[in-house]
Amino acid sequence: MRGGMDKAEIYSKLEDEARSRASGERNPIANAANFAALMWALLPDINWAGFYFKKGRWLVLGPFMGKPACTRLQVGLGVCGTAVAQSQTLIVPDVHNFAGHVACDITSNSELVVPLFKYSTILGVIDIDSPLLGRFDEADAKGIESLARLFILRSDDVT
Ligand code: SME
Repeated sequence: MRGGMDKAEIYSKLEDEARSRASGERNPIANAANFAALMWALLPDINWAGFYFKKGRWLVLGPFMGKPACTRLQVGLGVCGTAVAQSQTLIVPDVHNFAGHVACDITSNSELVVPLFKYSTILGVIDIDSPLLGRFDEADAKGIESLARLFILRSDDVT
């Protein structure tokens, strides 16, 4: 892991830095932009990290780091759309085995999608892609779920 840090240390640092960046700022775009930059800086072996925000039956691209991505995903389709439709985090070890996976970048092999919950309403997702197979596990899911809660708590008018 990066700089010899294990996942617990990485997610603790990510959370601390995100909390500090979001203190005194409640604009969702500003906070999402910094959260994406922090994920990009701290998480090893990823090729995309960012946000999609829910607008009706669409997930619309928000701040991210990585190559330009699909601007609009349909709820119920692909990994992001399925996570929203099922109201749950999805860890996909091999995206090529996920029916309906939307390949924004052909070098992505595994993916983690975490819904942004405000109470029981989903306002969007955090999506992370990796060129490695099986890059994400339960520790990553818990770490990003915690980041998602922090984002929602610290941001106004997300959609
Ligand atoms: N792979 C995602 C699409 C978004 S990109 O990975 C950035 C999906 O299947 O929903």
